[in-house]
Amino acid sequence: MKRIAVLTSGGDAPGMNAAVRAVVRKAINEGMEVFGINYGYAGLVAGDIRQLSAKDVSDTISRGGTFLYSARYPEFSQVEGQLKGIEQLKKFGIEGLVVIGGDGSYRGALALTKHGFPAVGIPGTIDNDIPGTDYTIGFDTAVNTALEALDRIRDTATSHIRTFIVEVMGRNAGDIALWAGVASGAEQIIIPEVDSDMKVIAEKIQEGRRKGKKHTLIVLAEGVMGGIEFAEKLWGHGEQHTRVSVLGHVQRGGSPSARDRVLASMFGAKAVDLLQQGIGGVCVGIRQDKIIYSDIIETLENGKHQPNLDLLTLNEEISG
Ligand code: ADP
Ligand code: F6P
Repeated sequence: MKRIAVLTSGGDAPGMNAAVRAVVRKAINEGMEVFGINYGYAGLVAGDIRQLSAKDVSDTISRGGTFLYSARYPEFSQVEGQLKGIEQLKKFGIEGLVVIGGDGSYRGALALTKHGFPAVGIPGTIDNDIPGTDYTIGFDTAVNTALEALDRIRDTATSHIRTFIVEVMGRNAGDIALWAGVASGAEQIIIPEVDSDMKVIAEKIQEGRRKGKKHTLIVLAEGVMGGIEFAEKLWGHGEQHTRVSVLGHVQRGGSPSARDRVLASMFGAKAVDLLQQGIGGVCVGIRQDKIIYSDIIETLENGKHQPNLDLLTLNEEISG
């Protein structure tokens, strides 16, 4: 393969730039030409494509967001859009594509491969909810961003002897809540994968107060419900004075952590290796510290993402 392209798709994640940089630099070092596609699949269909040099990715490794921009473009689920995309790629003489994004973006990569155009997926999302990998690009940074906020909230919660509900992102997954919750020493972590009972949650808060706790931090994954709704439900169980903090999109921005940069660099280089061998329809991942790849169909159909629920048990054992 002599010419490949790269795009970022779906929700952005810190470390996407580092992955693009790795794809570009590795491919050029292997004697290939690399093209960048702006705005994900929307830009692909529109032909918003340009060649990237090694210099074009200078000073990008430390930057959050994605300099190729991202987009949600539902039209790409239709065969018509996919064929139009392939037509654009062929126009530029491109023979393989690296797609950095979540499981929706993987489905686009799979569709292209099924039409005979090899595409490789790299897991990029703060949610860490993609099967086929233990970690996704952006998750570590998002957890650290949430943690910084939680540490600050702990300060004010202690001064005022208050209960805080801190809503974190994750879509339907509880990974950010679990990691940020354990790291911040939260009293309770509420995630969508495990049922919780408002009465029990309120009782635990009250028990903490009786024991002399100066604050209660509850980390709530957005996939359970919104923070305000959660506070209203607690109200019905005698907790009228909780404060709610919704961390929102701050978790999506910022300079990527060292871990995300390294992960992104390893994924980017591996994706180029695979395309060089003519392998498409696969996604890269990390399992027990080893970079691996797996078939996208197999991964999306049979691999279910499961957060590390041992962290929840651990938190119950150590949160006091
Ligand atoms: P993520 O990649 O983060 O999961 P989305 O689910 O929004 O984010 O998917 C990103 C993009 O991938 C969509 O906007 C669309 O362009 C493309 N996509 C999603 N699902 C499919 C599908 N079934 N077939 C082809 N392309 C898809
Ligand atoms: O998938 C990443 C994510 O940030 C989720 O955690 C969140 O639910 C969603 O995207 C927010 O999407 P949008 O940026 O479209 O508001």
